Amino acid sequence: MLDRKKYILASNWKANFTLEEAINWFEIVSRLNYPDLRIIAAIPYPYIHYFATRYNNIDVFSQNISHVLGGAYTGEVTISMLKSVGFRGSIVGHSERRHLFNESNQIINKKVLILQENSTEIILCIGETLEERKEGKTERVLYDQIISALNGFSRFELLTVAYEPVWAIGTGIPISPHDLTEAERFIRKIFEDKFGVKNIILLYGGSVDKEFAKVIRNQTTLDGALIGSASWKPHNFEEIIRIFVEH
Ligand code: PGA
Repeated sequence: MLDRKKYILASNWKANFTLEEAINWFEIVSRLNYPDLRIIAAIPYPYIHYFATRYNNIDVFSQNISHVLGGAYTGEVTISMLKSVGFRGSIVGHSERRHLFNESNQIINKKVLILQENSTEIILCIGETLEERKEGKTERVLYDQIISALNGFSRFELLTVAYEPVWAIGTGIPISPHDLTEAERFIRKIFEDKFGVKNIILLYGGSVDKEFAKVIRNQTTLDGALIGSASWKPHNFEEIIRIFVEH
């Protein structure tokens, strides 16, 4: 096929996996070598060094990063620690961080700027709650999340955006193809109008499984997916990968 797109499939492990399970996952997934595919594994902090230094065809990301640079902040994991163990970038603003750990748009902006300052990649998650969608506020929320997270940001080559409607995460109910197409158009337009960025790298996340992978692949112009539970069993993840690379 001519002009084939390079898809990105990012596996978000969340707070799962023992080291042994993690090794098994990397052993299986790293054997899948497709030139048109970038695989990202967003993994728990303790495993980053082990995998970042052993597997070079899977890009190892953290799922979060501290908004402080260091000092008396018990429990924080900072940019300099993560860089020193070889991570490639971080997810920022995942809805579980926003809602369960009260991360504000301001804190998310700090994290984004720290990553920019360190020339490190960012997967910025945005998405509306069910209540916001029902009240017709989806576009307002997405707009605010993007504009506030990217205050002071200019290095768009480091940025991937993941649109993840909160109500679709972990529920088994992805967005409808129609609503996804609308959201994609809206998000791309913000980047064009506000930042002059055409073709921002844009993923969808929220109950992506094999079936929904086909929707993303065939009914949208998205660049790939951020996948939680359907990516945890390496063979399930492999099936999703094949949908993107073998069509
Ligand atoms: P899910 O999670 O695929 O299990 O819905 C996606 C995410 O949280 O990034």
